[in-house]
Amino acid sequence: MSDTRQATISPTERAGSRKVFIKTYGCQMNVYDSQRMGDALATGGYVATEAMEDADLVLLNTCHIREKAAEKIYSELGRIRVMKAERAAMGKDTRVAVAGCVAQAEGREIIARAPIVDLVIGPQTYHRLPDALLRVDKGERVVETDYAVEDKFEHLPKAGKREISARGVTAFLTVQEGCDKFCTFCVVPYTRGAEVSRPLAQILDEARRLADAGVREATLLGQNVNAWHGEDAAGRPIGLGGLLYALAEIPGLDRLRYTTSHPRDMDDELIAAHRDLPELMPYLHLPVQSGSDTILKAMNRRHTGDDYLRLIERIRTARPDIALSGDFIVGFPGESDKDFEATMRLIEAVGYASAFSFKYSPRPGTPGAELPGHVDEAVKAERLARLQDLLRCQQQAFSESLVGKSLSVLVDKPGRRPGQIVGRSPYLQPVVMDENAGTVGDVVTVEIAGAVANSLIAVGASDARSALTGGPVAA
Ligand code: SAH
Ligand code: SF4
Ligand code: F3S
Repeated sequence: MSDTRQATISPTERAGSRKVFIKTYGCQMNVYDSQRMGDALATGGYVATEAMEDADLVLLNTCHIREKAAEKIYSELGRIRVMKAERAAMGKDTRVAVAGCVAQAEGREIIARAPIVDLVIGPQTYHRLPDALLRVDKGERVVETDYAVEDKFEHLPKAGKREISARGVTAFLTVQEGCDKFCTFCVVPYTRGAEVSRPLAQILDEARRLADAGVREATLLGQNVNAWHGEDAAGRPIGLGGLLYALAEIPGLDRLRYTTSHPRDMDDELIAAHRDLPELMPYLHLPVQSGSDTILKAMNRRHTGDDYLRLIERIRTARPDIALSGDFIVGFPGESDKDFEATMRLIEAVGYASAFSFKYSPRPGTPGAELPGHVDEAVKAERLARLQDLLRCQQQAFSESLVGKSLSVLVDKPGRRPGQIVGRSPYLQPVVMDENAGTVGDVVTVEIAGAVANSLIAVGASDARSALTGGPVAA
């Protein structure tokens, strides 16, 4: 495998305006990575297109977390094969690249199953993308899935002010990658490798660049973001809490968030940051997966349901209005009715503002897939439906509890209907407002008149209610 550092394509090699279409699957880290790959490709003369059929390069940034997510990629590659043939008939070449977690997990197998793929590139080697494409241009089939020794972030080009501004007033910022927790159901430690924290100075530099380009809200990302650790300017060890205190000092960066956290890494410093920092939004995604101690042990989560509840209590003492979100898996091998009921009781005890829940999907190479006692699909479906009903009721109750209250809202985009704008509440809900409430980038205070589906409606938002009943608000 090549050990080449990031190669920029020289102007003479630039093929004028070659177009790239990037499609992103999976978590926010993939969204961030796609932007960074877009930045790297821009230095190589590629411009982004929204239309796949116009693209000289189609790049799929993939997710391997559940079987369905991985299979989606192969059906997409089937469609791309047809499109590539149509373009070839018009005398146009189309390169196809697969990046992300499927690339890392399946490597060369992807090319065996989908021979139209020219390049397979794993998440640790994105800085080698321009070089890999040059090799593809020379007729090579390239598979880049080695864990790179060089720091990817040091070698990826930084986005310019114009590119950052074009992406809006909220931004993702990856501060940590990889995972050492090895939950028995999860592929992430295998697809993203060991836990690595970006250095404080590198993160502060990127955050300042975001703020300078007009970003008002940054969400720090990591597979285990609260395992982030580094050193402050004086060389003292700090955790994510310390990083948040430092970021809160940056002028213009009004709002901070982070995701996703593991309960075992919620330390005192981080909980204190929730108490002390008005910039840190009162919203926390803290997955527990199950409420049964037997299942938590089999999942290798290394905490009990009670540990989690006690932790929630400490967090709520520090920040009483915090909105909690979580992830749940139903039907992990060995999950009995009693185990499932324990999960339902935990959900009732916590009261979530939002949540994501999934049927267990056995993943090749993970210890969970080898466990006895796989649960029938019909039982999984029934449990998931009950669990989601409960979570939906809690979400609705949370939204309704905000009606009549004043909330600070970051205006982030135009609404779907004329005369409306949309922003984000501190609790991450979309808020539909009248366009006179403010302009994109403003943090405004509005009174909440109603709650529909996943959104809130501000007092004065004309015709918002009828606009919402037809479908989701967020574009
Ligand atoms: N790092 C995060 C989670 C990353 S994966 C954490 O530790 O919480 C996002 C979510 O996908 C997980 O929280 C879990 O609920 C779900 N998930 C992961 N592997 C899964 C599998 N094999 N089957 C079903 N859901 C899974
Ligand atoms: Fe996966 Fe567990 Fe790591 Fe989260 S903590 S990424 S669920 S192994
Ligand atoms: Fe999926 Fe990889 Fe994210 S498996 S959830 S894209 S870390």
